[in-house]
Amino acid sequence: MCALAICCEPVLNLRMSAYSNVYPHSLDIPPLVEALHPLSSSLVCAPPVSVLQQLRIATAVQHKALEARLPLTHPDLDRQTYVRILEAYYGFHAPLQRRIDAFLGADAREPEREKVATLIRDLHALGLSDADISRLPVCADLPPLDHVGHLFGIQYVMEGATLGGQVLRRLIFGRLGIEAENGAAFLDVYGRDTGRLWKAFLDRLAELDHPDVNPKVVQAACATFACFEQWLARAGVLR
Ligand code: HEM
Repeated sequence: MCALAICCEPVLNLRMSAYSNVYPHSLDIPPLVEALHPLSSSLVCAPPVSVLQQLRIATAVQHKALEARLPLTHPDLDRQTYVRILEAYYGFHAPLQRRIDAFLGADAREPEREKVATLIRDLHALGLSDADISRLPVCADLPPLDHVGHLFGIQYVMEGATLGGQVLRRLIFGRLGIEAENGAAFLDVYGRDTGRLWKAFLDRLAELDHPDVNPKVVQAACATFACFEQWLARAGVLR
């Protein structure tokens, strides 16, 4: 659906009901609205909704729900639950990263954004051996990735998830005494580079912004949240 259609829909509906009082036969309405639409679009509509705005609107409820169900911020979080959460994170990130790498090809990989090595480092620090990690269950139900729009939708979620890192890092240190050196590096995986990397991603997302591609971006972002939440629920780490 074009962005204008989204923002104009309520305006058109209002106008249609106003005209239906004057012209009660529904068959009279479409030509009138058709004639009105180009004019009302340019006069009444706000600028088209950017892909970033669409992503924020489409995923806001999923973000809130996941944040509330993840016990990372809960006062009774214990070390055992924390380790199980990181194991489940690994089980999602490892196969997803492989899928992204396969889609991008070796030349386009972005080592700076790869997070799985940090998760492995944390799991080692928390007592897991390589053999333990290799036996962890991994998610097979991943979001679709056969279009660049899908890639950006997935990245929006996985890159956006780094933004809460500072808050989480402080909380986990306060509750469990775990910090970057002993098992919580992943929570603030980009550290001081968080803002720079997020901005660079947003710049690329803005370049991609196009009405033909945006639905794929939004669809993949929603699917990523949904798959991740289902995976964490199956791993038994959500409330
Ligand atoms: C308890 C866990 C979480 C907390 C406390 C948290 C907190 C935050 C915070 C503080 C921001 C920054 C908001 C801003 O600066 O405007 C943010 C953004 C974001 N988070 Fe989370 N988050 C959590 C979990 C997650 C998870 C698990 C995901 C996805 C896997 C996620 C995805 C995102 C995304 C996509 C954004 C970017 C929103 C935007 O600016 O467009 N978050 N989060």
